[in-house]
Amino acid sequence: MSTQEIIQQFEPKQHNLLHILHALQDAHPENYITEEALEAAAGHLGVTKSTVYGVARYYTMFSLKPRGKHIIRVCASPVCELLHVNDIIAALEEELSIKTGETTKDGLFTLELSECLGQCQEAPSMMINDKIFNNLTSARIREVIQSFKDEARK
Ligand code: FES
Repeated sequence: MSTQEIIQQFEPKQHNLLHILHALQDAHPENYITEEALEAAAGHLGVTKSTVYGVARYYTMFSLKPRGKHIIRVCASPVCELLHVNDIIAALEEELSIKTGETTKDGLFTLELSECLGQCQEAPSMMINDKIFNNLTSARIREVIQSFKDEARK
């Protein structure tokens, strides 16, 4: 589906901006919102490109640069931090051979930090795309990442 076809699914009302940005990002194989898409969304809603850009930059779930197919967001808020999320982040960095904020060479994963995911009772926690993973350990990280790699090979 083209950028215009995606945007035309939404009424040209400003309250649709977040839905439009989500749809544009989800439709892009590199999981981000392009300059062209920002411009098209602004044109559709009758607002300036800088307004749309500002909104896209404000929310951490949006990216303005290419990312991997799977977005890993690790909670770095206080409860997870107390429960040694730094060990989890280190395990992810080792397993993926990247640093936080980077994308794997095969384009499969991007590793990011996040605010509280609302899972404090089962911390430490992370999300991969829309799925939550709780009670993380280094061993569990290896299992989860391997399952995504296996799925990608199918
Ligand atoms: S602090 Fe990590 S899920 Fe709430």
